Amino acid sequence: MNSNSRLRIALTKGRLQDRSLELFERLGLDCGPVRAPGRRLVHPLPNYPLDAVLAKAPDVITYVEHGVCDLGIVGKDTILEKGGAFYEVLDLGFGACRFALAVQEGSDFYGSYRTRRIASKYPEFTRAYFEAKGMDVDVIKIEGSVELAPILGLADGIVDIVETGATLKANGLVPIETAARVSARLIVNTASMKLYKEQITDFIEKCQAGLEAAV
Ligand code: PRP
Repeated sequence: MNSNSRLRIALTKGRLQDRSLELFERLGLDCGPVRAPGRRLVHPLPNYPLDAVLAKAPDVITYVEHGVCDLGIVGKDTILEKGGAFYEVLDLGFGACRFALAVQEGSDFYGSYRTRRIASKYPEFTRAYFEAKGMDVDVIKIEGSVELAPILGLADGIVDIVETGATLKANGLVPIETAARVSARLIVNTASMKLYKEQITDFIEKCQAGLEAAV
């Protein structure tokens, strides 16, 4: 919360951004300043005591963990990868997709004893997933278009977000396991939750009501 008693929320840029603003607008919040941001990075909402910032998903967690933002909206995929100390208070339902293990069509992933190599933008999650299965794998961190790794012969499989499955299909890959279901979550800084309990509880309840109204 800033000196004007306004809460601050970090929203994940990109896919989740529009869905977050749609939810806020359903609650009656004027999101005009966020929709037409110009060069400013902090956007005070005119009719609700909330300032919004847009950030990359891992930064949303960093800002909330450090308490420079009281609240955040971020995908469960990033939470599973990065972890951190904050409260995850609400599953917002949108941004629903899954973490899948995918391989090249026709390849027999479990067919040999040699150590498999997995490429992923989510190496920590991937390591933990295979460790829980008791399987030793080499994980290679890739920053984007991870589907290329098996095509180029860098990896035997990938662990990545699958929403429609179109990207896998277009690249001759097939999902063979679902590792986790993910969606957008509302997170809260632990100290803010205590210090501004009333304002934050109000906001959570508002979001909850907005989600129920949308069903
Ligand atoms: C994600 C993911 C896949 C794609 C899956 O990437 O890494 O590439 O979406 O979606 P689909 O199942 O609907 O085809 P994203 O578009 O978020 O881009 P990124 O590589 O920059 O993370």
